[in-house]
Amino acid sequence: MTETIHIREFEDADLGQVLEVLRAALGETPILRRTPALFSWKHFRNPFGRSIVLVATAGARIVGVRAFMRWKLRTAEGEVLQCVRAVDTATHPDFHRRGIFSRLTTEAVERAVADGVDLIFNTPNPRSGAGYLKMGWVEVGTIGVMARPSIRLLRRQAAVEPPEAEEYLKLPIPVGELAMEDRPARGLRTPRDAAYRSWRFQQHPTARYFQIARGSSAAIVRPNVRSGRRELVLSDVAGPDPRRVIRETLAVSRAEYVAAWWSEGSPERAAAKRNGIMPIPGRVALTLVCRPLRTLPLTVDALSSWDLALGDMELL
Ligand SMILES: CC(C)(COP(=O)(O)OP(=O)(O)OC[C@H]1O[C@@H](n2cnc3c(N)ncnc32)[C@H](O)[C@@H]1OP(=O)(O)O)[C@@H](O)C(=O)NCCC(=O)NCCS
Repeated sequence: MTETIHIREFEDADLGQVLEVLRAALGETPILRRTPALFSWKHFRNPFGRSIVLVATAGARIVGVRAFMRWKLRTAEGEVLQCVRAVDTATHPDFHRRGIFSRLTTEAVERAVADGVDLIFNTPNPRSGAGYLKMGWVEVGTIGVMARPSIRLLRRQAAVEPPEAEEYLKLPIPVGELAMEDRPARGLRTPRDAAYRSWRFQQHPTARYFQIARGSSAAIVRPNVRSGRRELVLSDVAGPDPRRVIRETLAVSRAEYVAAWWSEGSPERAAAKRNGIMPIPGRVALTLVCRPLRTLPLTVDALSSWDLALGDMELL
């Protein structure tokens, strides 16, 4: 395999081959099928803008793909940073360790700089993580898991995939319009406006989200199967009363446990803990890394500078 590798921008006609490379390199699960609809939701219908997508070719064959998804983060002072998330990177297994990921990423960074992007962030796996650190990314820290088990964990029955909402919630109500104003950012925070919430929780092509609303607040949850267990992912909370809607979520959950994550110091994390959803000691779900593309008004490589929820970290 000595063909010359070329890097170019993604074209619509590449989609089938790009999905093949992603499947071959990353695999898929019943709720994360690498369908054209999922790719288009992430990279073309995202309210923050169209992704930077590059491909590597060997002759007519696509052998690598690299996408930077557009994002925004608001600082505690109210400044909005133009960001990209380095997601969906894969090199076909036949072409590993030939520098394709590094070349694609370096070129995508150049395009991001030219577009005025302030910050790149992502949650890589160990293989690509090593490559990012070589290319100037810095580690921010690790994201854990908060969970509260239910008595159902003891009466375990094999969960089916894709998950049936009725097995997770007494009355599953799909997420509707969430018009609540977002609370002020405590650190780098995804601004949750109506367009973002609709795209993220109503228009997702494969994952299904439900709401538990009380008063002017709502919890947003996603039924999931993890290791054969029914997990209710508490993705986010909208509105001024997280404690009440989290309590209500636990009351209506039929899952074996509820899982969540919020940054330290956030009102949602405090509300979750008051309801018995506790950090699991030593459990690491994700490692957050980032690369500032200009001098920023805050220290980005410390977790204390971020204000995150599970729902804006994972893209399911
Ligand atoms: C991770 C992946 C994209 C790397 O692609 P690649 O084109 O082989 O990577 P490169 O040749 O540019 O490697 C660049 C650096 O990344 C790191 N790296 C790449 N593959 C690695 C591996 N299997 N184990 C450890 N480090 C690895 C190394 O630091 C490497 O530098 P080196 O070759 O000088 O040691 C590729 O292995 C892949 O497609 N894996 C499956 C999909 C995946 O995991 N995507 C990342 C999702 S977050």
